[in-house]
Amino acid sequence: MKAWLLDRQEGLGALRMEANATDPVAKSGEVILQVRYAALNPADRYLAEKQYPARPALPHVLGRDGVGIIASESSPPGAQFAILRGDVGVESWGTFAEKVVVSSEYLVPVPKGWSDQAAVGAPLVYLTAYQAITQWGPLPKGAVLVTGASGGVGVASIHLARAFGMPVVGLSRGGAKKAALLEQGAAFVADPQSPNWHREVKEFLGDTPVELCVENIGGENFSRVVDVMGYNGKISVVGRLAGPVPNFNTASLLFRRLRMGGVAVGTYGAAEARKSWDHIVRLLNNTGARPLVDSVFPFAQLPKAFARLAEGPLGKVLLDIRT
Ligand SMILES: NC(=O)c1ccc[n+]([C@@H]2O[C@H](COP(=O)([O-])OP(=O)(O)OC[C@H]3O[C@@H](n4cnc5c(N)ncnc54)[C@H](OP(=O)(O)O)[C@@H]3O)[C@@H](O)[C@H]2O)c1
Repeated sequence: MKAWLLDRQEGLGALRMEANATDPVAKSGEVILQVRYAALNPADRYLAEKQYPARPALPHVLGRDGVGIIASESSPPGAQFAILRGDVGVESWGTFAEKVVVSSEYLVPVPKGWSDQAAVGAPLVYLTAYQAITQWGPLPKGAVLVTGASGGVGVASIHLARAFGMPVVGLSRGGAKKAALLEQGAAFVADPQSPNWHREVKEFLGDTPVELCVENIGGENFSRVVDVMGYNGKISVVGRLAGPVPNFNTASLLFRRLRMGGVAVGTYGAAEARKSWDHIVRLLNNTGARPLVDSVFPFAQLPKAFARLAEGPLGKVLLDIRT
């Protein structure tokens, strides 16, 4: 089969297209998915750069999200399935290939009325956003702040928070994606590059406190994220695209009794992931929101697709495996 092989964990430059990679073999409880679309995630790059705990056998195939058909007689002809999560693209070969082995407990049908392109990039980021929003117990009554709001987890967080009935404020660099994010359900979008964005957010919200933050970015901006949080606010730490937080003052958590907690979508087992996914699909079907596709690249252009992801997309960057 054709596959993008990672020969060394030395970054995305160590990827190469191989026309005759070994076909995967399914064991008991596993199926082979013929991949139609794959979706990219920053975690693919982190794994390639050895910034991730996983140390898969090399060569490795990256790619966690995929949609395709099951190559087995018992599967309904033409039925499309999506990968919920699991080891795919982490310890086992991933979806940047024509075929992938998936444990059947981690496969779900593409939801009715959803396109394959909408479904392919949804599981990882919506499950992550779901954990970030629900991990603190009762849902917040105040506002939700979403940093990196235009990305995969960001858009998913806007959709889910809105479906739960919470007002959302998003952060996105520059003004280019503001209108689109308002359309997706954000009540207000601020530019984190503006030194006063935290004041603008407080002014917009008035008496409504920020009770939850889905934090995808980290870096220098984090102290201002802490600044906008209301009393008893919770920060769900999802990612760190801007790197470590310099000079963090733990005292900034004290007086408003702020809490921070990590999010790790990998801790969802199969049953919990399926239950959460079913809830996510119901929530999105209620509001009519669908995962956003930023761009679709031909299979041979994976490096260009990663370059697009690094620029800051609006929704998910996909790979069309058949082109
Ligand atoms: N903990 C978990 O289980 C888990 C699961 C999934 C993802 N993650 C992590 O969560 C983070 C977000 O993932 P994602 O899939 O949403 O990423 P993404 O699709 O690449 O989007 C991230 C968004 O953040 C902004 N951004 C990117 N680089 C930035 C930088 N250096 N400084 C400031 N803003 C930047 C961009 O928005 P603008 O250009 O509009 O500002 C971009 O659209 C990543 O670190 C990822 O590894 C963690």
